[in-house]
Amino acid sequence: MYYYGTTAVNDKGHLEIGGVDTVELVREYGTPLYVYDVALIRQRARSFKATFEKYGVKAQVSFASKAFSSVAMVQLADEEGLSLDVVSGGELYTAIAAGFPMERVHFHGNNKSREELNMALDHKIGYIVVDNFYELELLEALCAQREQQIDVVLRITPGIEAHTHDYIMTGQADSKFGFDLQNGQAEKALQQAMQSSWLSMSGIHCHIGSQIFETTGFTIAVQKIFEKLYQWKESFSFKASVLNLGGGFGIRYTSEDDPKPASEYVAEIIAEVKKQAAHYDLSIPEIGIEPGRSLVGDAGITLYKIGSSKEVPEVRKYLAIDGGMTDNIRPALYQAKYEAVLANKPLEQTTEVVSIAGKCCESGDMLIWDLPLPEAGDQDILAVFCTGAYGYSMANNYNRIPRPPVVFVENGETRLVIKRETYEDLVRLDFPLRETAEAKHQ
Ligand SMILES: Cc1ncc(COP(=O)(O)O)c(C=O)c1O
Repeated sequence: MYYYGTTAVNDKGHLEIGGVDTVELVREYGTPLYVYDVALIRQRARSFKATFEKYGVKAQVSFASKAFSSVAMVQLADEEGLSLDVVSGGELYTAIAAGFPMERVHFHGNNKSREELNMALDHKIGYIVVDNFYELELLEALCAQREQQIDVVLRITPGIEAHTHDYIMTGQADSKFGFDLQNGQAEKALQQAMQSSWLSMSGIHCHIGSQIFETTGFTIAVQKIFEKLYQWKESFSFKASVLNLGGGFGIRYTSEDDPKPASEYVAEIIAEVKKQAAHYDLSIPEIGIEPGRSLVGDAGITLYKIGSSKEVPEVRKYLAIDGGMTDNIRPALYQAKYEAVLANKPLEQTTEVVSIAGKCCESGDMLIWDLPLPEAGDQDILAVFCTGAYGYSMANNYNRIPRPPVVFVENGETRLVIKRETYEDLVRLDFPLRETAEAKHQ
């Protein structure tokens, strides 16, 4: 078993996390249950920030809240002095509800609505990451109408795509996001933003991919951006005060993954920024990064109860859990892989290889293929590691399955931060065609 953060095996032989027995958690909160190791989130946040401090560069480390947007998580990000990346009115609303300082909020998205942009302007957020010409014009018009200024950062596509161990140069970047750096779109957007009386053109943003293990993609992006920043200084006297390089730092989901410590990605990014700034005689902008997965991913585990099983002789054994693609859609969506143990006997010798099926009416609802486990059956508790990012935030109600609750654990204390959805919650927005005895009671 791989020990993430504060995970350990206690003297009862149970998996514990944050000093709390997972079997006790299940007894109190039921299953499925998302559990977050708060100490590990704090450690990750501090490590990103400490590296920038060590190298003496101005920086903002933003939590990409899409990875796990909730009021408690946003407040935790605030406690750790992080900034916040939001991509929708809903994520912004969550930040507002959490009392997050709006000057540290950055708004992303390739199709922000008028209402969302007005909401961002009402709350005077830090900056808007403008994604396309439509948005540039819309934001300009809204700001003019409101007679309000706002800092903007242009999202560019540098012609690099990076995922895990690969990065590819994509030339004409085929992406729904951002202004292309190569074909002149980014330059046109820059000129347009610089001419505005309402938009204050602050800098450049790019996000090159996800679950990246190599630093090469980041360093090439920095090189390409600086080449343009130099040209833009010469041609338009533009000086970037912000260079945001997005998120995407990889984490260990399974033994196949071998990520670098966060500090290494950051150190290499800083080194390349310093090198390029010196080469072109440009000042060093504030460096932004937006980790999502690498802040919360390995701090989360999901606990399930095992129910039915099915043997397909000489093929495989399926064990079904009481959740699945409704609480973790990543395996069905992009074949994401996970490791798991039995929380009630994590150290017991594995004796068989099983496949973990979800309970949804969908053959693709398989959580883990070919997982070594000790003999397991009804009421054993399966703990799936590394579910902290894009688990709850992508959870859904397929088959009208209520979304599980979320607890934070730290130093032996447990805090319920999101309640379990109820069946009543599931029909709350429905209008019946006719009254029923049940509907009258609501
Ligand atoms: C613009 C932007 N920033 C940050 C992130 C966070 O990425 P990750 O969770 O891989 O760190 C994403 C993910 O899609 C993104 O699109």
